[in-house]
Amino acid sequence: MARPHSFLYTLFAVSSLIVILNAQNETRYNPAIPGWHSDPSCVFVPDWNETTFCTSSTFLLTPGLPIHASQDLVNWKLISHALSRKNQYPAFDQSLAQTDGIWAATVRYHQGTFFIITMYKNNVEQLQTGLIFNTTDPYDNNAWNGPIRYETEYIDPDLFWDDDGTAYVATSGINLQTADLTTGTFGESRSIWNGSTGVYLEGPHLYKKDGYYYILAAEGGSGINHTVIIARSKHIFGPYENHSGNPVLTNKNTSRYFQNVGHADLFQDALGHWWASALAWRSGPLAVTYPMGRETVLTPVTWNEGAWPIFSPICGIESGWYLPVAKENSCHGTCVGDADIIDFEPGSPIPSHFGYWRWPVPDSYTISPSGHPGTLQLTPSPLSISAGYENLTLGYQVDNLTLIMRLQTDTLFQYSVDVFFTPEIEHEEVGVTLYLNQVQNMALGVIMLPISTTTNLTTNPTLAPHLRFVVSGLGGLEKNIPKPFVTPVPDSWLKDPIRLFVRAENETHYTFTAASSSSPYEIIPMGIAPATIVSGGTGDFTGSLVGAYATTNGRNGSSPAYISRWRYQGLAQAVGNQEYIPSRFNY
Ligand SMILES: *[C@@H]1O[C@H](CO)[C@@H](O)[C@H](O)[C@H]1NC(C)=O
Ligand SMILES: *[C@@H]1O[C@H](CO)[C@@H](O)[C@H](O)[C@H]1NC(C)=O
Ligand SMILES: *[C@@H]1O[C@H](CO)[C@@H](O)[C@H](O)[C@H]1NC(C)=O
Ligand SMILES: *[C@@H]1O[C@H](CO)[C@@H](O)[C@H](O)[C@H]1NC(C)=O
Ligand SMILES: *[C@@H]1O[C@H](CO)[C@@H](O)[C@H](O)[C@H]1NC(C)=O
Ligand SMILES: *[C@@H]1O[C@H](CO)[C@@H](O)[C@H](O)[C@H]1NC(C)=O
Ligand SMILES: *[C@@H]1O[C@H](CO)[C@@H](O)[C@H](O)[C@H]1NC(C)=O
Ligand SMILES: *[C@@H]1O[C@H](CO)[C@@H](O)[C@H](O)[C@H]1NC(C)=O
Ligand SMILES: *[C@@H]1O[C@H](CO)[C@@H](O)[C@H](O)[C@H]1NC(C)=O
Ligand SMILES: *[C@@H]1O[C@H](CO)[C@@H](O)[C@H](O)[C@H]1NC(C)=O
Ligand SMILES: *[C@@H]1O[C@H](CO)[C@@H](O)[C@H](O)[C@H]1NC(C)=O
Ligand SMILES: *[C@@H]1O[C@H](CO)[C@@H](O)[C@H](O)[C@H]1NC(C)=O
Repeated sequence: MARPHSFLYTLFAVSSLIVILNAQNETRYNPAIPGWHSDPSCVFVPDWNETTFCTSSTFLLTPGLPIHASQDLVNWKLISHALSRKNQYPAFDQSLAQTDGIWAATVRYHQGTFFIITMYKNNVEQLQTGLIFNTTDPYDNNAWNGPIRYETEYIDPDLFWDDDGTAYVATSGINLQTADLTTGTFGESRSIWNGSTGVYLEGPHLYKKDGYYYILAAEGGSGINHTVIIARSKHIFGPYENHSGNPVLTNKNTSRYFQNVGHADLFQDALGHWWASALAWRSGPLAVTYPMGRETVLTPVTWNEGAWPIFSPICGIESGWYLPVAKENSCHGTCVGDADIIDFEPGSPIPSHFGYWRWPVPDSYTISPSGHPGTLQLTPSPLSISAGYENLTLGYQVDNLTLIMRLQTDTLFQYSVDVFFTPEIEHEEVGVTLYLNQVQNMALGVIMLPISTTTNLTTNPTLAPHLRFVVSGLGGLEKNIPKPFVTPVPDSWLKDPIRLFVRAENETHYTFTAASSSSPYEIIPMGIAPATIVSGGTGDFTGSLVGAYATTNGRNGSSPAYISRWRYQGLAQAVGNQEYIPSRFNY
């Protein structure tokens, strides 16, 4: 008798525990996906182990359209990129403006297939092309098909299937048309809603719930006036009823640390609770320093039957729905925000979270070439990482930068690589950069320069490796651009790799230092630069990256550089004004 009783008792205890846990909320942190992950769109897919998949816009960064997957909405693993092969969309080579490229996307799942719809924009040539990708395996880069291209007038396409299987694409405006996603042919576009105020009405997403079609959209522009609004109708083409509670989500006109909240999408979790993804800046209301740009945040939503959804305001620390899934780090060093400990071992691939500015020349990046195991060989590009600054509108080719980076995902972090380099020709250079774009960046390089430039202006043309710190920025907009600083590499450093460091010391400044890898604590301070230089400006849709480059600065050089011991360690995340939590792997 004891056994069944005990069994039933245990069953009862376990099920009550689940009920209690379901009723509880838990603490959630934002940004949910830290670092530049703008215009997020997410879909929950029961068929794929109750996983939520999100994508975000990547502009000129390749590979583009990352897919992040999570079951607990805490650990986000980068599982593929929908745009990973140059032949899928070679035209990046013609993009010049720093916010050209891949704009906001929508990810959806329909009858066993994942779809991403997005748009490629080239402002200089006034081109925009709609793109549709699909896959039956979101974990494999090569399984992403397409894109199918289509003509489009409006930005921010959405995807929605009605109960009869008809696919619809809503766009900025808000306009709606039927779509054949296998051919890229569209029905007539019809205006269905003019928004709450109509100012920068964009980023629409359509949902059907309890007999209503709902349009969720962004308004006010992707800056300080960004808001989320909603409307509903019993008929897909309207008329739509403006919700009297609009805007339903915004941090506009608040003193919150998270600002510019908007471009939201809605999805349900495994327990049926609703969530919104959105983009936000960690800038405070002054919006002066926000080097990571537009990041992905999540917030719980209460959406009762027949009622309008109610969004919790976006904060760094929120009480959100509990999800009864394993919270341990199941990422094994591959989740967003994980530390990098990368040694470029022979046979290892380039890490999937590394990226390039436009398509890379693959031959410029070789892991462990013969004679240099444990290094990444960089073949220098003629163009420097700031090339094109004066040429943004001149139609000059600015592609083929030898530049490999990862996102800055933490408010405070330390990054370093070792560089081994035997330059021969003047201006050959290898270095590290904190990079927003070709106009706004900071670089610490080892560069071949005449000794005379620093020691004897008239008579000594002998070349020698120097350390050089240079900051590029928009002079008018960001003040305090530091002057370049150049100093010869000490003779005792020449035989070993040189370690170059970038450190976000505090929220407002980066410091750059150098040391010999054989004596890494004897540093030479090279410079300090304010984070305002990489906040906004010509990159107000994007966010900062950190990485390494090699260039001949347009001269005749061709000496390869070898980088090794790539390290990135998050130190802290700001979650409020003067409020910090440890970075994820210091928890
Ligand atoms: C679900 O997870 C299991 C265990 O990790 C894995 O073997 C399986 O392939 C996954 N299936 C899908 C459809 O994701
Ligand atoms: C996926 O895209 C390919 C072309 O890229 C197309 O042939 C195929 O029909 C599409 N699949 C679906 C389900 O739309
Ligand atoms: C939105 O405004 C445009 C321009 O005034 C108008 O043509 C269109 O009919 C309006 N749409 C709706 C749904 O009212
Ligand atoms: C925000 O809205 C205010 C009031 O309409 C306007 O004066 C301001 O220019 C807007 N700012 C931006 C960045 O759009
Ligand atoms: C929509 O509703 C909001 C909130 O009540 C209101 O401020 C706005 O003016 C309305 N817009 C329209 C077009 O009715
Ligand atoms: C909110 O808006 C009002 C009116 O425009 C303004 O006086 C106030 O300073 C704003 N508050 C914040 C925190 O932005
Ligand atoms: C849990 O979070 C939801 C969404 O923010 C909120 O509506 C609800 O009141 C919270 N419940 C508790 C018990 O705090
Ligand atoms: C960039 O490299 C590609 C090879 O990947 C080459 O075809 C192209 O001509 C190069 N462009 C420039 C401007 O050098
Ligand atoms: C700008 O373009 C011209 C050719 O049109 C070129 O000579 C010059 O080097 C370019 N400047 C930069 C900074 O790339
Ligand atoms: C520069 O070099 C010349 C010739 O080597 C030497 O006479 C002179 O003293 C040097 N000047 C300085 C400032 O070092
Ligand atoms: C941040 O660090 C920089 C460089 O060390 C320093 O100049 C600045 O005063 C610091 N700011 C704060 C608020 O501590
Ligand atoms: C490159 O080398 C050639 C031949 O040696 C020379 O004529 C030319 O001036 C050099 N160009 C640069 C930029 O150094």
